[in-house]
Amino acid sequence: MTEFTVRPATVHDVNAVFHLTNDHAQAGLMLPRSKYKIITMLNNFSVVETTEKEVVACAALTPLWTDMAEIMALAVADEYQGKGIGTMLCRSLIKRAKELGFPKIIALTYQVGFFKKIGFQVTDKDQFPRKMWRECLECPKLEQCDETAMFLDL
Ligand SMILES: CC(C)(COP(=O)(O)OP(=O)(O)OC[C@H]1O[C@@H](n2cnc3c(N)ncnc32)[C@H](O)[C@@H]1OP(=O)(O)O)[C@@H](O)C(=O)NCCC(=O)NCCS
Repeated sequence: MTEFTVRPATVHDVNAVFHLTNDHAQAGLMLPRSKYKIITMLNNFSVVETTEKEVVACAALTPLWTDMAEIMALAVADEYQGKGIGTMLCRSLIKRAKELGFPKIIALTYQVGFFKKIGFQVTDKDQFPRKMWRECLECPKLEQCDETAMFLDL
């Protein structure tokens, strides 16, 4: 039976991360990201691979400041959804955020039900000005953001 392992991303995962994130971006579920952007964020990314070394999920833990980090670019390949992989990956990033000393982790998402199941609570986007200063400025939806802001105290 296939087992799933979370590990830090390497340069060999850039194409897989590009396809995982951009396939879901085309469906309007997340922001598109260029390969350049993925490479500059590579150190933040973790991936999930199967026993056969196929990369089936990715997510990044990005520090916003000393008081919070953000889960970004979370994507599980369609055919592997509903198997606990997204939960496993987020739990791994939450553990890493704790080790790094962050008191809070946030996510901006359409997947409110998923994040609630792993303990996040809904809040107001205005609580995250540092997020707004950064990636949001590159987002085509900037003024009309329809994602839900969520947080988890660590
Ligand atoms: C959202 C996503 C990451 C979830 O990953 P996953 O591996 O399918 O989720 P899991 O199997 O770990 O699900 C855990 C639980 O959350 C539930 N769940 C998953 N997505 C949900 C949603 N949108 N609303 C409510 N519940 C949800 C599952 O049913 C499961 O419940 P259970 O424990 O009672 O069985 C995945 O569906 C995905 O990649 N979606 C497309 C891209 C995307 O939207 N990314 C999020 C960007 S922030």
